Formats: sequence, C-alpha cells, structure tokens
Amino acid sequence: MSNETFKIVRACLVLGVALFFTPIGLLIAVSIYLYNTFVARKACKNIAGEVAVVTGSAGGLGKNIAAELASKGCNVAICDINYKLAEGTAKEIADKYSVKANAYKVDVTKYEEVVDLKEKLTREIGPATILVNNAGLLIHSDQLNPTVEEIELMVKVNYMSHFWTNRVFLEDMKKANKGHIVAISSVAGLVTLPYSEPYCSSKNAVRALMRVLRAELKLEGLNIDATTVFPSFLQTHARVKQFATDSGFSDLYPLLEGEDVAKRIVQGMLQREAEVAVPGFFMLTYRLISLLPARAQDWVTYMPMMRLNTFQRAFASIKEQ
Ligand SMILES: NC(=O)c1ccc[n+]([C@@H]2O[C@H](COP(=O)([O-])OP(=O)(O)OC[C@H]3O[C@@H](n4cnc5c(N)ncnc54)[C@H](O)[C@@H]3O)[C@@H](O)[C@H]2O)c1
Repeated sequence: MSNETFKIVRACLVLGVALFFTPIGLLIAVSIYLYNTFVARKACKNIAGEVAVVTGSAGGLGKNIAAELASKGCNVAICDINYKLAEGTAKEIADKYSVKANAYKVDVTKYEEVVDLKEKLTREIGPATILVNNAGLLIHSDQLNPTVEEIELMVKVNYMSHFWTNRVFLEDMKKANKGHIVAISSVAGLVTLPYSEPYCSSKNAVRALMRVLRAELKLEGLNIDATTVFPSFLQTHARVKQFATDSGFSDLYPLLEGEDVAKRIVQGMLQREAEVAVPGFFMLTYRLISLLPARAQDWVTYMPMMRLNTFQRAFASIKEQ
C-alpha cells in the first residue's frame, strides 16, 4: 500500500471511529449529567458541632462559605492573611449563628504558619474535620504583563498552599477516620481563559490534586470525602466584576452571588459530591467540549472571544495604576 493510500485509509478509519463513538459519548455525558442533577439524591451528612477551617474567609466567597457552614451548626475558624477583617467576620458569624467562630492570621503559602494554625485552633475550638481551601489570588496588577513575583505568588496561594493545608489537617482526620476537604477551583480550571495562564493552570492543577487525593482516600478505605468546586464569575471581587462587565461576559451570564454559591457548595459537600460546577450546566458543556479533538476544543474556546475582541481590552482597562 502506498503512503498516500495508507493516509487515506487511516483518515477514513479515524472518521469512522469518531462518527461511531461521538453520539455514544454525547449520550453518556448527558445521561450522567441528568442522573446527577435529577436522580441521585444521596443522604446528607450532619456536620453540626464539627470544626471547619476556611482559608481566605475574612471576606468574599470564603466568608459566605463560613457563614453557611455556621448556619448548619459548625464551629468555624476564619483564617486569613488579613487578620483585621477576619476578626470582624468571626464576630459577625458568632453573633448571628451562636457557634464558636475564631479569627486566625495565616499566610497559607508558609508551611510553618499552617502547622501553628492547626495547633492553635485545635487548642481553642477543637480538631478540624472540615477544611475548605478557598484562599486565592484572582488577578495581577497588570493582567497582560504580570511580574515574575506575582506569577510565583499566585501559583503558591492558589495551588501549592493546598499541599500544606491538606497535609497538616488530614493527619487528625485520618486518625478520626472522619473528614471532608473542599477545594475552590474555578470554571477557569475547566476551560481556557486567555491571558490568565497562572490562574487557569493553578486552578486546573487543583483539580488534578483533588482527583489524586480522592483516589488515595478510597484506596485507603477512609471515611474522608473530597469535593472540588468550579464557580463561574462572582460578585465578590471588585476587579473581577469590572473585568466580567467590561469583557461582556456578564451580558452572556449574570455574575453569581457569593451566598448562592456558598449554599450550593455546602449542599454538594453534604451530599458527598466529587465535583460541583456553579452553574451546573458548565460541567455538561465542559464534558461535551472534551469529546472534541484538542484543536477543535481550542477553537470552540477562543473563537467567540476573538470575535468579541474584548478580553485584552477588558484586562487592560482594569490595570492597577
Ligand atoms: N470572584 C470570582 O469571580 C471567582 C470565580 C471562581 C472562583 N473563585 C475562587 O473563589 C475563591 C475566593 O475568591 P473571592 O472572589 O472571594 O476573592 P477575595 O479576594 O474576595 O478573597 C480571597 C481571600 O483570600 C485571602 N488570601 C489571599 N492570600 C492569602 C494567603 N497567602 N493566606 C491566607 N489568605 C489569603 C484574602 O485576604 C481574601 O480574604 C478564590 O480561590 C477564587 O479563585 C472566585
């Protein structure tokens, strides 16, 4: 068989396999989504009286998650690099929900600080059985031209810190054979957001880390759950909100309220869901796009943005002076 004939036969075979499997893949993806959304209603965990550590919870989504956990009767550790804000948040939550809520200053990128945090909060409010890795950096001072230090810090806060907090808090959870680790990724961890390499890749890496963690917990037969969350753009962060408005994204899909996302996160956690996208259809869209070849996936992602031609301009307009 000549080289040319071989190439034609190979192309026909690939096309035949793709035509055969794509509808089956589509059917499986849609069925899983519908089953998870409308049928699977697993028994809810009861977390009243447990201790939850929420990183980056002085404000924003972290504060909403801490409040939602407190509303379920959890005692909460409000952990943040911004201690002043964390103190106010802890008081507000303690007063509103009549639970223990203490503020802790921690830089999650520093392993020793995480170790000290665990010792302190275990002494003061008890051993933690819930860890929510929420602390994150979202945007650089100049998104189109970040400094080396900014890139390094974003990867450390958004990704590396999960190694430290998981390692430190899992120790007690394993001893008690009870616990839950939640990681806040982003839809940018599923799909491509141009001019956001450190953010997208760190959030994508969190997904991989959580998948490995889930596999290990299962293999060891431990009663510890792990949930990864992929929210779309929120109202919580002023510069992100500005970007979503300037780029036209908020016209396509409204920005989410922190309280609503926190409710969905805690519900997913209580039902032991492995992955939670907010809004849910993003996961189905992602799964369907994943069936395409890599170049087609790239095209689906960047063509609408190129046509809009707004991403670069929107990032440029929110540059810090
Ligand atoms: N805002 C959005 O549109 C959006 C969308 C998807 C995912 N998320 C994710 O949700 C999480 C919270 O985002 P947000 O909008 O509430 O942002 P935010 O900036 O309001 O909150 C982040 C918190 O993390 C804290 N923090 C930063 N560095 C820290 C460090 N080294 N140690 C301890 N705390 C530190 C900050 O002080 C702040 O309180 C982030 O992980 C973010 O990536 C946000």
